[in-house]
Amino acid sequence: MSQPGPNTPRFLFATCHVGAEQALINEWARIHPGWKPAFRRPGFLTFKAPEDWRPSAFPGAIFCPVFALSIGLSYGGVEGESLEELAQKWWALAGDLPFHRVHVWQRETKPPELRPDDAPLPSQTLLAQTARETLQRTCPRLPSAGQAAFDPERPAAFGDLVLNCIVIEENHWWLGYHSVMESHSRYPGGVFPIYLPEHAVSRAWLKMEEALQWSEFPIRAGSRWAELGSAPGGASQALLDRGMYVLGIDPAEMHPAVLQHPRFTHLRRRSTQTPRRVFRNIRWLLSDMNVPPNYTLTAVESIVTHPIVNIRGVILMLKLSKWSQADRLPFWLTRIQSWGYNEYRVRQLYHNRQEICVAALQRPFRRKRQVQRRRF
Ligand SMILES: C[S@@+](CC[C@H](N)C(=O)[O-])C[C@H]1O[C@@H](n2cnc3c(N)ncnc32)[C@H](O)[C@@H]1O
Repeated sequence: MSQPGPNTPRFLFATCHVGAEQALINEWARIHPGWKPAFRRPGFLTFKAPEDWRPSAFPGAIFCPVFALSIGLSYGGVEGESLEELAQKWWALAGDLPFHRVHVWQRETKPPELRPDDAPLPSQTLLAQTARETLQRTCPRLPSAGQAAFDPERPAAFGDLVLNCIVIEENHWWLGYHSVMESHSRYPGGVFPIYLPEHAVSRAWLKMEEALQWSEFPIRAGSRWAELGSAPGGASQALLDRGMYVLGIDPAEMHPAVLQHPRFTHLRRRSTQTPRRVFRNIRWLLSDMNVPPNYTLTAVESIVTHPIVNIRGVILMLKLSKWSQADRLPFWLTRIQSWGYNEYRVRQLYHNRQEICVAALQRPFRRKRQVQRRRF
């Protein structure tokens, strides 16, 4: 592993959803004051380090902001009139940086609300594909993985060094660099290769599958889940597809395909009207209610802290009616930790819209001590 040298850049890049740029800038300023936003395009930003910043020997050992889809060291951009010119300049900029993988993807150009369900992933847009093919063809020194080093569907290994080519515009590519430290950074742009199956009744299927892959929760087929806000049922289907049992709680109608599933049960009522005993055998909880974050937190708190309930992990989709609500995140996390969840991750997922996903886990898992009835 090479140590940071005199040419290690003093900039980091981050990609994010279009619309989340200011939330990312605010978050960065809150956690790492002294960094200054520099180059900026929708869905793509760079930040200049303060004087006292010492680049890490591990380019990926950088903090992981909630609103960043991907992050890494930023080596700058190249412009060119042809693909060959762009590739030649990009490889020249990469110089002798060691690498195991090359991730190529296009920055987001539309807010997630305007992205059709069948839109290509950022690594599979036409511009990303042509950039990848050109870089592959002109690669001056193939890593040990050979041509597979460019394959966007093949996950990089933890610790791998990755050259990032971010297509800013057709004639403008960026060079980034990271080492893989997080589940999502194994894939180009931090986006898991997940596709909506034909049987899915809503796009929440994508969001749930992404949440499961990203959170790396230790779940097995046969685990028992409850979902608050389960209608029409895409997220429950993602769980059912993995062999889970699901209790869906929602006053709205479930899609018949979900309702008829042998491992699905519907309680047609609000979370607040649900007796706590129904959660007695549930170990995992998902909340996807279209309500303000404080409502979700109060509803979930009243379930997971109940003496007869033992929930090992929760996945909470917290809807932000205004981006500025993200400033409340530290308080929300303190509250979630106070329920006994000692491991947590937070991220705006690729398949989230104006919302964030919190995955919180109790490790090791300890059931609450049941109050024993005295026998006379
Ligand atoms: C975004 S939709 C959920 C999508 C769903 N997870 C899926 O996979 O298709 C939000 C749902 O939250 C439900 N909801 C809102 N308040 C609720 C509450 N207090 N208890 C249960 N469900 C609630 C709504 O009825 C609505 O169906």
